[in-house]
Amino acid sequence: MTPEIRLTEAPAHLRHSSNIGQPFTRRDGILKVTGKAPYAADHHPPRMLFAVLAVSTVARGRVTFLDIDAAKSHPGVVDVMTPAHKPPLAEDPDAKTNPFMFRMELLQNDSVRYANQPIAVVIAETLEAATEGAALLAPKYETLTPRIGLDAGESFIPPSVGVGHPAVVEQGDVEAGLAAAARTIEAIYETPAQYHNPMEPHAITATWDRDKLSIDTPSQGLAMAQSRIAGLFGIAPENVHIRSPFLGGGFGCKGFISGPQILGIMAARLVNRPVKLVLRREQMYGPVGYRSPTRQRLRIGADAAGLLTALEHSAKTVSSTFDDFFEPAADASHTLYASPVIRTAQEAVRVDSGTPLFMRAPGEATGSIALESAIDEMAWAFRMDPLEFRIMNDAEVEPISGKPFSSKALHDCYVRGAERFGWERRPLSPRQMHDDAGFLIGWGMGTATFPALMFQGNARAVVRADGRGVVEIGAHDMGQGAWTALAQIAADGLGLDIDSVEFRSGASDLPDAGIAGGSAHTATAGLAIHNAGAAVIAKLADLATRDERSSLFGAGNAGVIARDGRLFRRDDETRSESYADILARAGLAEVEASGTSAVDPAAQAEYAMHAHGAVFAEVKVDPDLGQIRVTRMVGAFAAGRIINPKLVRSQLFGGMIWGVSFALHEEAVVDRRSGRVMNANLAEYHVPVNADVPSMDILTIEEHDPHVNALGIKGVGEIGITGSAGAVANAVWHATGVRVRRFPIRIDDLVTPR
Ligand code: MOS
Repeated sequence: MTPEIRLTEAPAHLRHSSNIGQPFTRRDGILKVTGKAPYAADHHPPRMLFAVLAVSTVARGRVTFLDIDAAKSHPGVVDVMTPAHKPPLAEDPDAKTNPFMFRMELLQNDSVRYANQPIAVVIAETLEAATEGAALLAPKYETLTPRIGLDAGESFIPPSVGVGHPAVVEQGDVEAGLAAAARTIEAIYETPAQYHNPMEPHAITATWDRDKLSIDTPSQGLAMAQSRIAGLFGIAPENVHIRSPFLGGGFGCKGFISGPQILGIMAARLVNRPVKLVLRREQMYGPVGYRSPTRQRLRIGADAAGLLTALEHSAKTVSSTFDDFFEPAADASHTLYASPVIRTAQEAVRVDSGTPLFMRAPGEATGSIALESAIDEMAWAFRMDPLEFRIMNDAEVEPISGKPFSSKALHDCYVRGAERFGWERRPLSPRQMHDDAGFLIGWGMGTATFPALMFQGNARAVVRADGRGVVEIGAHDMGQGAWTALAQIAADGLGLDIDSVEFRSGASDLPDAGIAGGSAHTATAGLAIHNAGAAVIAKLADLATRDERSSLFGAGNAGVIARDGRLFRRDDETRSESYADILARAGLAEVEASGTSAVDPAAQAEYAMHAHGAVFAEVKVDPDLGQIRVTRMVGAFAAGRIINPKLVRSQLFGGMIWGVSFALHEEAVVDRRSGRVMNANLAEYHVPVNADVPSMDILTIEEHDPHVNALGIKGVGEIGITGSAGAVANAVWHATGVRVRRFPIRIDDLVTPR
């Protein structure tokens, strides 16, 4: 099948190609599995030194002593960077001139704001010498009692949450809605702190050449990183060259350049030699963000028929003492369920931790597990099947905005997912199913949703005299497959075979592709590429249709079709000309054009834009030991146009696995006395390993959304985690009859119910 991509501008030239929609294997796969894909820490410029962070072991107070002499006299140590000995910065790292400018600890003073905060940097000829030097610093502190946890202090209503949403949203009178209900439930759910644990920790190799800086470092947002670095060091952004072709995972913690990365650049400045700085795993638990814990209260009312009369979702979260990031957990209740009364409210307390940050499906992940658990509890209050209850209360227009959805194939997700799972055989009551070995079996479900976002991006496209194409964009591949999916869009955009297009990406001197976040990267970068390709084809068409010597002469009004490196008259496809011939006759070496992507404000004003899905899970629980195994999951997702089904499946698998992790595994445990994360490692911070991952089945439901963007792309990076965590939790209840509301669900919750 050859999908047709229509240009948005007149004359309506068409481009045909067959790259979009193909399940291409990721183009960088061989490089990665053979170890030839260079990650930031793989770089060793000549004369490079190693920098190692010394980090605070206390969470609040100040550093009173560092044994700098001991560190400096260790063989191989070149220098020790401290608040008293560091290169100057052009900007205050505590300044915050926009909400996404997060404050950093760049040795500006001796204060300690959280455990694992960088307090010095040791620079040495070898990694071993730098590590030993850092240990020899043996810091002393003046310590204050840290404020830890959701009850650490006075709570307050943040000025905004997430990316700037209001903290409190109220539609109708909750008390009246609850009073009008035939049944109500009230329940409190708690989610723990979670830490980003990409396989690749933050790492940087930095080289200065006078006022020019060249760095290798993972980034989900190259242009923002470039301008932040330029500001801090007082140099022009174009003097900052960042290479970030591959990221070993991001999950949001590489969206903004972090303090430790800047410290690596400062270290290189200080010693005037290239420097490499790589965080150790435990150093990831502090200075580079995390998902904050939440306590969420759901109050839901429904009339005698089971139709919602009120939905209230209140969430409490934490932020740091020195900066603002507020996990927007309650916002999850804005979109899915039709209730005439909705109230969401968020409050926060300040704790002595690093600043929380965006972490895969921020707000949606935390909020969804509470909302989907509560909806399940409500269905049970009516003794109704939870799928039927959801379908009955499904919103036809987005309840909080009153806008119709730009498209919504959720019902298909429910029906097809349930059918694939075999949901109709589910007994209504818990503790009804067991296997031959006596394990309790439970089936649960959750609804998935995530906003379909798009940011502003830019791309450049070229067709060269040999008829081949080049597409350039500073996009980010953090493992999701951007190198591949965007190359597919690039090839279709130029009417070329994918192997005839050179796709250049992953560096800051390429056009700004925005940020790889918010599940918006394929749409953002993809539309910019698509539009750049359209502009190049329009130029080629102009060259041909205005030239009497071309067989396309005069076809300007009819338009052309671009396919396989040729332009065809739309009204007479027997007349065509190759790109190479058009350029040769015009005496041009290449045709080049730029394209941008940006949301359409008119469409945004008119429609609510989301991807949707339904996730079904089966668990088996040992009735004596309480051990839980997820044995089977089915996820059905409608997420607009699928650029590459193989990569999309991987993304959805990853999200669903994180859902399992959220429900059953992940938790950062903080020592209340010291304020330190006690399991700051990958042995005790549990994430699912292969043995924990069930058989997973993914259905992508075809969906054509004409409003979301010209390619109909919605994004799949985060939706998989929403719905999945709730599905597992609800399956545990169905297996055992025990409703656990504090996550992750533990063995002891089932053996000795709270
Ligand atoms: Mo993601 S948390 O939007 O990088």
